[in-house]
Amino acid sequence: MVNKRHFGKRIAALRRKKGLSQTELAEKLGVTSQAVSKWECGNAVPDIDLLLDMSHLYNVTINEMLEDIDLLRKLTDQETGNSGIAYFVSEQERDDNISWAEEIRNGKWIKRNWERSRIENPYMDSVGKQIASCEGVILEIGAGPGGGYMPYVLKDNPDAAIIISDLSPTVVKEWKSFLDKTLDSPNLYYAVFDFCNMPFRDNSIDVISDGGGIGNCEGVKAKALKEAYRVLKPGGRLITSTGFVNKETLAALPEEARRILIEKRPDVFEDLYEDTVLAGFGKIDSVISGGWYTDDDDSSIAELARSLGVNLKFTSYTRYCVKE
Ligand SMILES: C[S@@+](CC[C@H](N)C(=O)[O-])C[C@H]1O[C@@H](n2cnc3c(N)ncnc32)[C@H](O)[C@@H]1O
Repeated sequence: MVNKRHFGKRIAALRRKKGLSQTELAEKLGVTSQAVSKWECGNAVPDIDLLLDMSHLYNVTINEMLEDIDLLRKLTDQETGNSGIAYFVSEQERDDNISWAEEIRNGKWIKRNWERSRIENPYMDSVGKQIASCEGVILEIGAGPGGGYMPYVLKDNPDAAIIISDLSPTVVKEWKSFLDKTLDSPNLYYAVFDFCNMPFRDNSIDVISDGGGIGNCEGVKAKALKEAYRVLKPGGRLITSTGFVNKETLAALPEEARRILIEKRPDVFEDLYEDTVLAGFGKIDSVISGGWYTDDDDSSIAELARSLGVNLKFTSYTRYCVKE
């Protein structure tokens, strides 16, 4: 069955991409602009001859305009279930994640973070814009309650095709339920999987967006980077942001604190550059985007730093990596 609302959104997106107003399209098709408005609002579907004219004008098939495609099935061979979410790991939240998942739900973190993303943020807005400017399928990995760059990509282009993913079923369910109400876009897809073992075919994804997922990886970060390389199309890009404690900060720490931190949390000193090269990425541009101090947050590393009497400085960066 044709989802008229989604059909309307799809043809409105195609019209915008072509740079036409509703009136200009109406003139080309020999109909009234009210008719175009009705189709785009999902109140009506054009006659078959008009559909054909539009398919020629936009250079897409009639099916592509009418049908909701299951992008995840095309990219993975597994169908999205009735929930509208494709699961590649258990649908149940992992035991050690249950209380965090509850906080996300009860504290309405998704809504709060989405609203925050609507406020001007020059850095996040500019990265979102760059990701949105890449044509094709965007895969947001480890979306988390902040959504990574996805909210900023959608701010620039609400028509962007994005697969929103995380290892936590709650995160993905919460994003779906929120965005269904807020955007109801036919171009958003939802999947639950481990990004160290991605369900996608080789060379299938145009852009991977990672706003702090790999940096907070449950699993081996180097494996996640290799998987990102494998699933990207040649020419595809990984845009990845995280933070680490650099060598200068490490050297300036009191000896005992340094020893304990290296022993307990070696990961916070890794900048992942070498792993990114080893994964295969030929062109890597790093941009230092700022920093933060552990005194300002309540993560496990912040607690450890406080217990050692130090205020650790993290340097944050974004890397633009191309699969050549
Ligand atoms: C602490 S969050 C921070 C970043 C997140 N993009 C945000 O904006 O909130 C890290 C997210 O990565 C997810 N994650 C960690 N390891 C993962 C893995 N191996 N596969 C998929 N998601 C993972 C976590 O479930 C979490 O939601």
